[in-house]
Amino acid sequence: MRSLFHKTIALLLFAVMVTSCHDKDSPNYQYMPDMYEPVSYEAYGEYTVFENGQEAKLPVENSIPRGWMPYEYQNNPQDAAAAKSGLTNPLAYTEDNLNEGKQLYTIYCAICHGDKGDGKGKLVEREKILGVPSYNDAGRAITEGSVYHVMYYGLNNMGSYASQTTIEERWQIDHYVMSLKNSLDGAPEREFEKETAKTQLLPSRADADIYKEGEDVDQGQSGANTRATEENQTETQE
Ligand code: HEC
Repeated sequence: MRSLFHKTIALLLFAVMVTSCHDKDSPNYQYMPDMYEPVSYEAYGEYTVFENGQEAKLPVENSIPRGWMPYEYQNNPQDAAAAKSGLTNPLAYTEDNLNEGKQLYTIYCAICHGDKGDGKGKLVEREKILGVPSYNDAGRAITEGSVYHVMYYGLNNMGSYASQTTIEERWQIDHYVMSLKNSLDGAPEREFEKETAKTQLLPSRADADIYKEGEDVDQGQSGANTRATEENQTETQE
């Protein structure tokens, strides 16, 4: 009897000893840890195998998000003038493109510019906004390039439409705006073009140059800047 009593005490002590060291904040025994621990590196994980100790990497220099292309003209008067004279609509002037453009124009632009593009939209009639020009304003002499540029960056009281419309949509609206200008001018309607192949949208000025010269003209451009930023980032991460 006595020995049973002793044995019980010893067992209890042993149990207390074993369990008292258990830390509730750390995982217990894991059977088949593969079920819990990923075999691959975890996104944003810290690993010494990587150069900066981080699994997450910066995108390769000059990489751009899929489906997006840089617009090479900056938001300043020189580039606005360059876009006005040099930038043209890459989309064929087809009935489809014009109709798409008309719908988008009615959604985004007509409220100020009016259905006819004469600058007499609802907001103008109700005197909510001033200074909306007619598309055939001789002083402005809008072109395909200038219309795109204004849609991209906005102009004074007119906001930018770059986040609400895709590149293709802006060019479709552009066709429609130019057709409105045409009618306001009383010019004959532009004839529709046949679209031979779906327009390969998006090559930017820089890309066009690369293809033409068959060499990388971008070399060295802004490389110093990017490197400086990377260094800063590594510092903060450490
Ligand atoms: C909130 C009202 C408003 C909306 C909506 C609006 N605009 Fe404008 N737009 C203006 C005003 C105001 C100006 C005159 C800006 C200035 O010259 O200060 C202007 C100017 C323009 C010009 C002439 C720019 C130049 O080269 O002088 C064009 C082209 C134009 N808008 C196209 C568009 C298109 C296309 C849309 C739709 C995607 C649109 N606008 C939507 C108010 C608007």
